[in-house]
Amino acid sequence: MCGIFGIVYADRPRRNLGEVLRKALERLEYRGYDSAGIAVVDRGLVVRKDAGKVAEVAARYGFDSIQGVAGLAHTRWATHGKPDQANAHPHTDCRGVIAVVHNGIVENYAELREELAARGHVFRSETDTEVIAHLVEEYKRQGLDTFAAFKKALSRVRGAYAVALIDAENPKAIYFARNLSPLIIGVGDGFNIVASDIPTVLDHTRRVIAVRDGEYGYITPHQVYIEADGVPQDASSRVEEIPWSAEMATKGGYAHFMLKEIYEQPESLATTVAGLEGLEAAAASLLSARNIYVVGAGSSLHAGLVFAQLLLRIKATPVPVVASEYAAYEPLFDKGDAAVAISQSGETIDTIKAVRAMRERGVRVLSVTNVVGSTITRESDVVVYTRAGPEIGVAATKTFTTQVATLSAIYAAMLKALGYDTAPMEREIKALPDLARKAVENTAGAAKDLARRLKAKPSAYYLGRGSAVPVAMEGALKLKEVAYIHAEAYPAGESKHGPIALVEDGFPVLFVFSDPNTREKTLSNVAEMKARGAYTIGTVPARSDIAKRLDYAIEVPESGELAAPILHVIPLQLLAYFTAVERGYDPDKPRNLAKTVTVE
Ligand code: BG6
Repeated sequence: MCGIFGIVYADRPRRNLGEVLRKALERLEYRGYDSAGIAVVDRGLVVRKDAGKVAEVAARYGFDSIQGVAGLAHTRWATHGKPDQANAHPHTDCRGVIAVVHNGIVENYAELREELAARGHVFRSETDTEVIAHLVEEYKRQGLDTFAAFKKALSRVRGAYAVALIDAENPKAIYFARNLSPLIIGVGDGFNIVASDIPTVLDHTRRVIAVRDGEYGYITPHQVYIEADGVPQDASSRVEEIPWSAEMATKGGYAHFMLKEIYEQPESLATTVAGLEGLEAAAASLLSARNIYVVGAGSSLHAGLVFAQLLLRIKATPVPVVASEYAAYEPLFDKGDAAVAISQSGETIDTIKAVRAMRERGVRVLSVTNVVGSTITRESDVVVYTRAGPEIGVAATKTFTTQVATLSAIYAAMLKALGYDTAPMEREIKALPDLARKAVENTAGAAKDLARRLKAKPSAYYLGRGSAVPVAMEGALKLKEVAYIHAEAYPAGESKHGPIALVEDGFPVLFVFSDPNTREKTLSNVAEMKARGAYTIGTVPARSDIAKRLDYAIEVPESGELAAPILHVIPLQLLAYFTAVERGYDPDKPRNLAKTVTVE
């Protein structure tokens, strides 16, 4: 998830354009911060970009002293190509007159790059984005004007994108397009803006237009032109006045980053699923293994446990390893083994040390991480990226669900390699963003209501069976992390072997019904708990008759087995968030915790 910004003025602004672009980048930095850059049209095109945080790059290249009337800015969250100067945006064409910034994924960049290189275009980066600049250059060379060339370039590109492009040979316009990744237009007096989000626009104007998927067009200092399928759209009727302060808007209008990131899961799942690469290599490295160690910490471990349950179905031998406990397993590590190491930051020292110990003994390591260029990527044989964008909230939410989605895709690739028909699974994985959106919308109200009942409770049980157990574990972890309520998760069948002794009148027991194969047995545990006065709660498939067996049911959209863990964890994330707020805590900064633990 990157941040893009473009502004075009009628006359030179009183503050240097470079300073305006720097400030926009500072607002966008939460969307990605491994490299930054600007492109300004003055007499020609000036591009300044590098790896590093916005403030560092801006100081290094004197952004604030650069003048001009039209410019682009970009802060990057690397997806294709490591975070270095060559891969930083903006990217330019061969002649250095076109500059482009992009948030999203060009799925078919490899074939486009090959075609353009064959036509003599010289590429300077490893990114997918650069193909856009050369496509526009190629169509201009074939006689099209900049806008026509831009439109034709878009017709060749497949994937998720929010794009802004300037052409020094046509300096009074900024061209834009949106498909899946957010893009906002800011309508000013004597200037117009395109940006990834509202806060960056609010520093200049409160009048915004949300660009819709499939739309493209251009802004000049006095005009906003939007087209869809070749048909001009009525932009002026879509101008909205935004009442937020820029500060509030940084959280997208949400009170906390954790809530924003819970609601962002449809988008992060969409870009993760659209950007999946290396699945065949991942599947191959696991299918030939004797043992498959599944290692991680915290929420990443829980994602791994969901995956371990899937592996059992194809008679693979998953060995879950709590990252900090890897030493106990060292005698087992052998060159015929493989490992799946899961770490959204790619920096958790426990997981890194486990990976090092495995590789020293010849274990082939596949890592699933959210950060390009992170330590774990340099210590693994194969890397598959989630593309959730930076997660600011300390408690994992969108990174957990994008990990489960990625691991499910690897599982499907393993089945495919074994000759199974995986079309239904692939359809289910592609439907994840839409299902997640329904899950968030359909369960937020219930979660908020339930939080009011839970907030005074000193402890709770989260129970499940089969693949619901890791979901229960993740839900319990969330409640502990942000609401500071002691919540314990364990297999529901274990209740009578001790834990049920704790249950008394009103004791909250939350059951996860995500696994269709274990619902009947889980219901018998509900009865056991009810008989002892427990307050029984459950995340249940919509329209099932399970709801009436519980004191409180949260209905989750129906789905297949791969999507279920993701859909059922969403109400548990919301429940933890709302309970924390009810108890007066800041969910974004939970006490005693760090986003990434890089010390043992
Ligand atoms: C903890 C975080 O410190 O580390 C958790 O608070 C996270 O949210 C865990 O799941 C593992 O982090 P990572 O980056 O390895 O997934």
